[in-house]
Amino acid sequence: MLQCSSALYGSRNLSDIEIGHRYRLLIDAVQDYAIFMLDPAGNVTSWNPGAERAKGYAPDDIVGQHFSVFYSDEDVAANKPAQLLAAATLQGRAEDEGWRVRKDGSRFWANVVITAVHDENGALLGFAKITRDLSERRRLEELERAVGTSSLVQQARENEQKRIARELHDDLGQQITALKMTLALHETELVQHVGTDAPGALRSVRELAAQIDTMAASLRRIAADLRPPVLDDLGLEAALEWMTEAFEQRYGVSARCEIQADALRLNDLAAICLYRVVQEALTNVARHAHANHVSVRLSTENRQCHLRIRDDGVGLPEDFPPRGDAFGLVGMRERILLLGGVLSVESSPGNGVTIDAQVPLSRILVKDQA
Ligand SMILES: Nc1ncnc2c1ncn2[C@@H]1O[C@H](COP(=O)(O)OP(=O)(O)OP(=O)(O)O)[C@@H](O)[C@H]1O
Ligand SMILES: [Mg+2]
Repeated sequence: MLQCSSALYGSRNLSDIEIGHRYRLLIDAVQDYAIFMLDPAGNVTSWNPGAERAKGYAPDDIVGQHFSVFYSDEDVAANKPAQLLAAATLQGRAEDEGWRVRKDGSRFWANVVITAVHDENGALLGFAKITRDLSERRRLEELERAVGTSSLVQQARENEQKRIARELHDDLGQQITALKMTLALHETELVQHVGTDAPGALRSVRELAAQIDTMAASLRRIAADLRPPVLDDLGLEAALEWMTEAFEQRYGVSARCEIQADALRLNDLAAICLYRVVQEALTNVARHAHANHVSVRLSTENRQCHLRIRDDGVGLPEDFPPRGDAFGLVGMRERILLLGGVLSVESSPGNGVTIDAQVPLSRILVKDQA
């Protein structure tokens, strides 16, 4: 006590009463910790404003009550409060982390330290109890865990899509090619042996060949949507250029892709996440925007990567945010969050939609480039 007080108050001589008073002021000034005393039986004998803030009891409500009121029914049934006091008595100190209950019945996640206080003869005077509300830290940890799990789920999904795309290409794709070659042989034989005597048969064979071509094109498109080979082969910049060109051709909406970044060596997760954001944004433009023009811009500045997709369509509807089963924008935001970035969506009536994503380069480049 005296050692502490000299450190706290410097060399000035202060009476024990003054020191006690100043300690009281100090403890009352603490807002972020519940600091209070218990008598040897565990009844509350003092209460600071931090405790009132954390637990919701005014001093008059709680002083004199047993501290087990802060514990859940399960903890009380398991005799936890008494066990903590016994441990503090035996070892001088007991620490615990767990749910605690406020006056209004709500729970918070707390770190609790109980320290036994003795007089100069070693007799137990009671306990000092310090409780810290860790709900926010726990919430952040849970969020981090959820983001981590979501990253694993995304990666597993991308890997699965990659596998299906490869199967489609290598298995079904090869079979279609073989079918087309067999049909071409039949066509040649028909021309050689039957000549113009069977025009109906020849026409059917040619129609079949055209249908097989259509099938092969659909197969390539589906496989490319699942996993664009250009992304793996040539990187994000080329993939975005390819995607905007294909978009323009498919939907007749003029589309421009602008890359203002030195060749980026992106890690796999970043490449596919940014690619999927643009893919979903363009799909939304095709489905909802009635736009004449859309632009996609990828740039880097101040150790950040910026991605912007802007259209000149009708803009977001008045009843935005949308119904519960719309996942496109939510998915975009999650992907950008996975990369440690932020995504914003802007729109004013008649002014189209602008999607802006910003991610730190350190999170998206392969390690030796970051
Ligand atoms: N570019 C856009 N122009 C106009 N409205 C848009 C645009 N992008 C999104 N919206 C509006 O925002 C809503 C939500 O988009 P979101 O992509 O989340 O869902 P969705 O496209 O309706 O369904 P999905 O889950 O299949 O993507 C859309 O229903 C649409 O009303
Ligand atoms: Mg959508």
